[in-house]
Amino acid sequence: MNDKQFCVIGWPLSFTLSPFIFNTLFDELKLNASYSRNPLKKEELQSFVHSKKVTGFNVTTPYKKEILPYLESLSEEAHQTGCVNLVYEENQKLVGHNTDGLGFIHILKKQDISLEKKNIVIMGAGGLSQTLAYKCSEHKAKHVFIVNRTLEKAQKICTQFKYCEQTQLTSSHLKDLKNALLETDIILNTTPLYFSHFKNLSRNTVLMDFTYDRIETPYEIEFKRNKVNFINGKTFLIAQALYSFQKFFPQYEDIFQYEKKLQNTLNC
Ligand SMILES: NC(=O)c1ccc[n+]([C@@H]2O[C@H](COP(=O)([O-])OP(=O)(O)OC[C@H]3O[C@@H](n4cnc5c(N)ncnc54)[C@H](OP(=O)(O)O)[C@@H]3O)[C@@H](O)[C@H]2O)c1
Repeated sequence: MNDKQFCVIGWPLSFTLSPFIFNTLFDELKLNASYSRNPLKKEELQSFVHSKKVTGFNVTTPYKKEILPYLESLSEEAHQTGCVNLVYEENQKLVGHNTDGLGFIHILKKQDISLEKKNIVIMGAGGLSQTLAYKCSEHKAKHVFIVNRTLEKAQKICTQFKYCEQTQLTSSHLKDLKNALLETDIILNTTPLYFSHFKNLSRNTVLMDFTYDRIETPYEIEFKRNKVNFINGKTFLIAQALYSFQKFFPQYEDIFQYEKKLQNTLNC
């Protein structure tokens, strides 16, 4: 039996690389710990959180906002973004934290991409989009345009998750995406959709695709061929997982030294 047990919760949680990432790190560091996937139905969420069955856990779709009422404390990142993707115990309290926003900024910095004064399109208006919108505003983006199938959800993010006055947040229905893409610097896709018209984008445009549960999308292949700046969702997954690891095991301050190795293993 492992001393420390961790997991990721979500529903349906059919595909996740998180157990692979964490168990690889536990093996590398010879830690007596294990990380599993734990698909949970909505009615099981509260009892799971209160059971404190595991040392810590990650939270994925669709519970990043739903979990908030069951926690005893929120980190600044979780409070600001209104989303939690990591829960751990500190001073006997269950703390909710958000490492998605930290991972997002980390990846951009590594690629020398600044959000300041940029025009950004976010596709989707779920939990991840909410975090990204906040971080774009925090990093002084000029305009964040959120397009979504359900317009009301995009409108809500625009009114609630603005950090700085310099950023204009607007929303539209997904059918207006083509127009939104005309003058954009950065596209953040949090939907499972493929869009063939991406191939007409400028070569300077950055596309970050957060869904990673497919080998290579048609537009990823097209983008690589056209040398458009494409960022694979798996690089983001690894970064947010490493920030989570730091909370689970604070003594491993240099855990990011494994980032490149994990990227190579996962073929990012
Ligand atoms: N790479 C990573 O580490 C990482 C981390 C977090 C999340 N993710 C991925 O990012 C994605 C978004 O996560 P989330 O937590 O924001 O999920 P979410 O809250 O469920 O939001 C999903 C968004 O996608 C839209 N959508 C879903 N199916 C669609 C369809 N068929 N056509 C058009 N729009 C559709 C939804 O539109 P409606 O609002 O109209 O329903 C919603 O805006 C998920 O695929 C998740 O696996 C990846």
